[in-house]
Amino acid sequence: MAEIGKDIAKAKALLEQGKLVAIPTETVYGLAGNALDASSVTKIFAAKDRPFFDPLIVHVPDVDAVKKYTEEIPDKASSLMKEFWPGPITLLLNKKDIIPDLVTSGLDRVGVRCPNHELTRELLKSLSFPLAAPSANPFGYVSPTKPEHVNEQLGGKIDYILDGGECNIGIESTIVGFENDSAIIYRVGGLSVEKIELIIGEVVVSTQPVSNPLVPGQLQSHYAPRKILKIGNIEKLLEECKHIKISVLSFQKRYASDSIEKQIVLSASGDLNEAAQKLFSALRELDKSTAEIILSEEVPDIGLGRAINDRLRRASVNSKFQI
Ligand code: TXA
Ligand code: MG
Repeated sequence: MAEIGKDIAKAKALLEQGKLVAIPTETVYGLAGNALDASSVTKIFAAKDRPFFDPLIVHVPDVDAVKKYTEEIPDKASSLMKEFWPGPITLLLNKKDIIPDLVTSGLDRVGVRCPNHELTRELLKSLSFPLAAPSANPFGYVSPTKPEHVNEQLGGKIDYILDGGECNIGIESTIVGFENDSAIIYRVGGLSVEKIELIIGEVVVSTQPVSNPLVPGQLQSHYAPRKILKIGNIEKLLEECKHIKISVLSFQKRYASDSIEKQIVLSASGDLNEAAQKLFSALRELDKSTAEIILSEEVPDIGLGRAINDRLRRASVNSKFQI
């Protein structure tokens, strides 16, 4: 198991030695290493068991730092940085050579993000390099929103976990790229499409094939628990699954059935931000229960509801279970 603590100087020293440290952000915990050092970056891929074709986001302390690592910045990108950084939005910008090709899986663009978490920003400001950091979970699994989540799965493979408490947004950053004059959202996430459109006008939400290896966060099956997850009308699904032990992840309502072993309500008051914050930790908890299957339902497709539904759908793709 890795040591968990709040020691920024220790995290800094380890990162300077080329080691890996899990860092808190407002979205999910990241598994960080020196983004300018290919050997540190290789360790990140290895610890996560992540294929090299899946590029990493580079975390920076502020807008000024971005200029060191990227070429020209489109106007819309500048507006978004000005409005939302530090915050849950990653921008795909043309990279400079200083960023190793390994970080971007050979792509011309690098994803840059300035996370909104005091500890991590202090750490980033103290370092002479930016941090490459994917979510700190084994490839394909649910992202971690608490230090213990990281320790359970990657504790043996990393050197330190910087403890920033529970992530307050709970769902990964929104990823935006720019083509000609338009902005394209490649991954819906912790910053809603509506808020982005208020600043830069209409954006395109990418509908490219989900198996496109250029944006693997869009892989059809991702963010998935080990148990089978079915999404749909919970009452109907409960009818169909009478004979097995079930756990339920619902939005507002509590369901009654003898076959329900464990149940988590994401937000009794119907608050989508609260639901997003709880989602991954709830999925992890239900994955540990003795029930055979998790039933869930979609939430309203507005605000962070869009990102919640996206993650639920991807988490349910492996469900080959026939009921
Ligand atoms: O909120 C977040 O974004 C968290 C925290 C730790 O910052 N990070 C995160 O990283 O979710 P990761 O690696 O789990 O997901 C990032 C996604 C990946 O699916 C990757 O394919 C995509 O972003 N991505 C990264 N760089 C890219 C690039 N240059 N071009 C296209 N997609 C990119
Ligand atoms: Mg991830």
